[in-house]
Amino acid sequence: MPVERITYGRQFIDEDDIAEVVRVLRSDFITRGLVSEGFESGLAANTGASYAVVFNSGTSALHGAYFAAGMQQGDEFITSPTTFVATANAGMYLGARPLFADIEPDTGNIDVAKIEPLLTKKTKLLVPVAFAGHPVDNEGVFELARRYNLIVVEDACHALGARYRSKDTSHTGPATYTNVGASLHAHMSVLSFHPVKAITTGEGGAVLTNDKALYDKLRSFRQHGINKDMSKDGEPWLYEMQHQGYNYIMTDFQAALGLSQLGKLAGFIQKRRHIAKTYNEAFDDNPYFYTPPERDYAQSAWHLYFIRLKDGYKERKAQVIDRLRHAGVGVAVHYVPVYKHPFYREMGYVSGLCPVAEDFYQREISLPIYPSLSDTQVRDVIERVYAVMSEMAV
Ligand SMILES: Cc1ncc(COP(=O)(O)O)c(C=O)c1O
Repeated sequence: MPVERITYGRQFIDEDDIAEVVRVLRSDFITRGLVSEGFESGLAANTGASYAVVFNSGTSALHGAYFAAGMQQGDEFITSPTTFVATANAGMYLGARPLFADIEPDTGNIDVAKIEPLLTKKTKLLVPVAFAGHPVDNEGVFELARRYNLIVVEDACHALGARYRSKDTSHTGPATYTNVGASLHAHMSVLSFHPVKAITTGEGGAVLTNDKALYDKLRSFRQHGINKDMSKDGEPWLYEMQHQGYNYIMTDFQAALGLSQLGKLAGFIQKRRHIAKTYNEAFDDNPYFYTPPERDYAQSAWHLYFIRLKDGYKERKAQVIDRLRHAGVGVAVHYVPVYKHPFYREMGYVSGLCPVAEDFYQREISLPIYPSLSDTQVRDVIERVYAVMSEMAV
């Protein structure tokens, strides 16, 4: 019997979601309108942020956040090399230069201690990335930002639904958890709604903030720099373009999908946490690889379940992946350090810049995790992983 192929990540869309999209498609308005506004209110309410601005991708949302932060030609920003290229690319759109701070070896998140030595007079922004949905220790990042007058944009594209416990109880009271995106320790948090993310709109993204001035800039940047609130007596049609902007609008039928999905977010995260716990228990203390940690302060959204091969296996990672795929286990690798891509190499970034991120990349493999993965499939993945690894035992 052929083995069932288990993919590494996929969306979960049910008949309710489809009905909501169809309802909008049958209505008079299909691009931005009341449904998009409803999705924005829903995102703000769900995370605890004051404002949400939806975009047509996580990448355009990052572009908007960097613009709203005032980033321009010649500025520098500091981010993690262990991320999707979009995090760095969106700053390059504005003529700014990314600098890469090395990561923690186990979470894959930026190592806060590595940021300060990279600061220069040109630094404008700090961009921590919540890798795999595990919150960054953002209080440390925010404290640095306060001292050096910098803006923090959190790339939370993996982390909708994650929570963290603040060490600073003045905001949150004792031992309470805060949602990623509530922006207590970031000026803006950016989300993606790509199909493998916590919820999907096909393509889509959002910026969350508590700052009204940033909110206004994000909204006009999304629509050609146009301010629609200019109507005057006698000229109710008036709108003015105040600065250069883009068409980064999300359609209402995508927003309908997003809003419907948002109602399922808590269940999706619960399912992801259940799968991660099952993997963690099954793989505890195995001789082949390390399992992903969850810090005391964090409740991960478990966007990815990543393993890190131990010495003796990391050298044969290509073979491990090949054998896992052959055994029907869909896996992916996150991430080639951004500066190692040819485009960045040609700009002068050199290998060895972030040794921990390079080592992490050599070891990392992401296993299947998504809400519709059944307990039987999880058990199959565990069995097949053990079978492949024991064949390769050193
Ligand atoms: C960490 C990170 N940042 C940014 C993005 C960009 O989001 P999108 O694909 O929605 O443009 C992604 C998406 O893959 C991501 O994983």
